[in-house]
Amino acid sequence: EPKISGQRGAFIVIEGLDRAGKTTQVKRLCDKLYSQGHNIKTLRFPDRTSPIGKMIDSYLQSKAEMDDHVIHLLFSANRWEKAKWIVETLRQGYTIVCDRYYYSGMVYSAAKYNPTLSLDWARAPDVGLPRPDVVVFLNLEPEEAEKRGGYGDEKYEKKEMQQRVRELFLGLLKSPGSESDMQVVNAGESVEIVGDRILEKIEAKLKELAAESSRAGIV
Ligand code: TMP
Repeated sequence: EPKISGQRGAFIVIEGLDRAGKTTQVKRLCDKLYSQGHNIKTLRFPDRTSPIGKMIDSYLQSKAEMDDHVIHLLFSANRWEKAKWIVETLRQGYTIVCDRYYYSGMVYSAAKYNPTLSLDWARAPDVGLPRPDVVVFLNLEPEEAEKRGGYGDEKYEKKEMQQRVRELFLGLLKSPGSESDMQVVNAGESVEIVGDRILEKIEAKLKELAAESSRAGIV
């Protein structure tokens, strides 16, 4: 049941490389926040269920070829499809935990080093999306990623691509924009420790939020 206190929910994003354990941690976090009395909804991008999401899925599975700019804009459109739902759901008092958001959108596309696809170009179509309250980046050292075994078969699950994505993510932390608000957690520890660290970051932020205005911003 939605909260009736009138306070909006928080918009939490978990970001990271492939194999950083995002999906496991999103699930743990939702269970934990739920047990604390929050009303929770989850979301993941890409959302492969919509028609646009199905096109993205075909691309990731190498069943369809697409220009770098085209696939980038589809990933962005896939977020815009959910924008209104996000705003309304937060307003109803639900806290949203989201597996990847526009940060992945920017860095994975920019990691292709296409000369006409800069980080700035990649950011533009996502400007105006609902802005997260907390973003946690699960950082994984390349050696640790190696230890976790081979990547899957999808398009970007290659060592060199992941290395470039990691560098770009870390670069975002130093950028002057809102991306520098990302909280970094070392994903190389055990599931329990990583989970606890994520929760610490989020609880601190939720406290700040409760004290602030309850209006959601935009990217
Ligand atoms: P997933 O494994 O979390 O479902 O994500 C699929 C791949 O899509 C992953 O390699 C990251 C990539 N990706 C982008 O390239 N752009 C985006 O906007 C998003 C959300 C994901």
